[in-house]
Amino acid sequence: MSRSLCQITDLTASEVHEVFDLCAKMKSGAIQPKPLAGKSVACIFTKSSLRTRVSFETGIYELGGHPMYITDGEIQLGRRETVADAARVLSRYVGLIMIRTFDHADVVELAENATVPIVNGLTDLVHPCQIMGDYFSITEHLPPADRYIVAYLGDGNNITNSWLNLASLIPLELRIGTADDCHPDADLLEKAKANPDSKIVLTNDPKEAANGADVLYTDVWASMGQKDLANDKAEKLKRFQINRSLLEVAKEKAVVMHCLPAERGREITDEVMDSPQSIVFDQAENRLHVQKAIMAFLLK
Ligand code: CP
Ligand code: NVA
Repeated sequence: MSRSLCQITDLTASEVHEVFDLCAKMKSGAIQPKPLAGKSVACIFTKSSLRTRVSFETGIYELGGHPMYITDGEIQLGRRETVADAARVLSRYVGLIMIRTFDHADVVELAENATVPIVNGLTDLVHPCQIMGDYFSITEHLPPADRYIVAYLGDGNNITNSWLNLASLIPLELRIGTADDCHPDADLLEKAKANPDSKIVLTNDPKEAANGADVLYTDVWASMGQKDLANDKAEKLKRFQINRSLLEVAKEKAVVMHCLPAERGREITDEVMDSPQSIVFDQAENRLHVQKAIMAFLLK
């Protein structure tokens, strides 16, 4: 079994910082490792993607490798054969497997049975590459701090869960503003609360979450696989929209973040998303750099 990234807590806190250091060096061009030279990478997608697909394929190429885009229609993961057997077979061909899918247990089963690293490109539970890239973006845009105040407004989903993952490893004041029945994963919430260096607040008051925050962060109210709930979620979460009046209670130099794709006019207004405080496209760019660092770290 190789080292894999199923969720951020597969790394230690010092390894997370090691990945960020590597990311900074690779992004600046100071180093250009080619750990995938002569190797292929299986990129399995059972959900849609723009950023994850294109940033992984580009990053794999830049690390010297050959990316293969594989859809569920072809491999039918867990249906044509077990996930474990697919992991054993793919490990004979490729140097790394990246997967985006629904059930997080499938990614864990792949990792437990593959002999090459697995990188989670989003499951219903977590999206580790996104939040690692996002934290890196915060450190690029804000002055150093012992503990940033991140206010996440909206649905308690895979993005929220990944923020909880990060808070369980490194100091963070994470304030989650959401509706009472849109809470994030209870187990990951408890694990984050167990880190004495982090502070976790769960509130149904958006202004309490945003007040004095360094970062206002949001995501779609209905994730992939839940689009039939979109109207119901919109009704419950409309109070948590990131708009000008919410931004006014954050720190003056606060940054606005969104993992994208955004449903403009729902969870975030055009005015805020297009404002100078928005760093959403820098976040998208950093997916490329952090994923290259993650792959290089796992392959070393
Ligand atoms: N943020 C993100 O993962 O985007 P895609 O769904 O387009 O990959
Ligand atoms: N929570 C969203 C994130 C997309 C990048 C989803 O799972 O659809």
